[in-house]
Amino acid sequence: MTQRPLGFSTRSVHGHPAPKAVWSPVAFPLYQSSTFINPVGSTDEVLYTRYGNNPNQVEIARRLAALDGAEASIFLASGMGATALAHLAVLRPGDHLLSSEWIYGGTRRLFQEEFGRLGIDVSFVNPDARRSWKQYVRKNTRAVFVETPTNPLMRVLDLDPLASLCRSEGIPLLVDATFASPLNFRPLDHGADVAIHSATKYLNGHSDVIAGAVSSSEPIVSEVKRLMQVWGQSLDPHSAWLIERGLKTLAIRVERHNANGLAFAAWAERHPAVRSVHYPGLAGHPDHAVARRTLSGFGGMVGMALKGGADGAERTLRKLQLVMHAPSLGGVETLASEPRLTSHARLTAKQRSDQGIPDGFIRVSLGIEDVEDIIADFDQALAD
Ligand SMILES: Cc1ncc(COP(=O)(O)O)c(C=O)c1O
Repeated sequence: MTQRPLGFSTRSVHGHPAPKAVWSPVAFPLYQSSTFINPVGSTDEVLYTRYGNNPNQVEIARRLAALDGAEASIFLASGMGATALAHLAVLRPGDHLLSSEWIYGGTRRLFQEEFGRLGIDVSFVNPDARRSWKQYVRKNTRAVFVETPTNPLMRVLDLDPLASLCRSEGIPLLVDATFASPLNFRPLDHGADVAIHSATKYLNGHSDVIAGAVSSSEPIVSEVKRLMQVWGQSLDPHSAWLIERGLKTLAIRVERHNANGLAFAAWAERHPAVRSVHYPGLAGHPDHAVARRTLSGFGGMVGMALKGGADGAERTLRKLQLVMHAPSLGGVETLASEPRLTSHARLTAKQRSDQGIPDGFIRVSLGIEDVEDIIADFDQALAD
């Protein structure tokens, strides 16, 4: 084997391959077992699936570390579990967390409803006001959290200046880049200390698993693992097995998601019933330049505001035949949802509109179908 670094597709299929023994299975076997026969009298770590050392859990962690360019990775039972434990691994009571305000609603709830009672204070920053990050750093600020690309406006944050601020302050930068997947963006390559994934989305890719993952240094991942063992968010072996299978096709799936996202956004931009389209691959997107510089692909997520408002969006969603009305994203099938009823349901119509998400906004997660069919479906659904 050459010393050349392996390509992304090869790492998706193999991780860092070890020579395989003859007669060993080509597909990774499923170890659907809660426990394992441990040697009598041994002081070695006990093998037990809640401890995160089931072979299916270990294999996907090894594979993700190779994709994220991380020292170590760990999978958990959900993206929320990953976000919670990644933060608890670096924060203590009395600490302050500085968070972007452009984050997933569930993460916001975690910070607002739970972190306070753990003695962790959280403040939110609008990432558009770039200079304000430093101004909000306090003596007890012990971590910074951002999400990129963001939901549902697909804003793309320039991590490099934020990473250098975090380095100079000696605090870790945690980044949820679920919307990008490691094919399009690897936060650790841009100075982040911790990458967080909802593996429910692109990593698994088939809308049949709830899972999360954290990639970072060995000490941080070990601490996440310790917390997982005592708080109990380990991933079920069958879900791990499905993710292993999903990871093998991550590269080609995401290439198709990227192509479909771009084609759909370009089509939607020209449609008379559409007021605005939010996709970082479009020249008019506010972060197009950052996206071109930092992303390997613009992704499969497209936001669009319809001229017909909430009624128009509902009419359109009811008429769709191929595209399914469902939250979540990153699966092989195209899904559409309305932020006013999902991620942004807790805000008033005015608050949403002030944030650039007026009623009538539809978020589309492009699947890997033939994009002409998705466009034709929306075309008939948007017709009067
Ligand atoms: C960006 C982002 N992070 C985290 C999560 C939470 O992931 P999960 O549903 O796997 O807990 C989601 C869920 O939609 C998300 O969109």
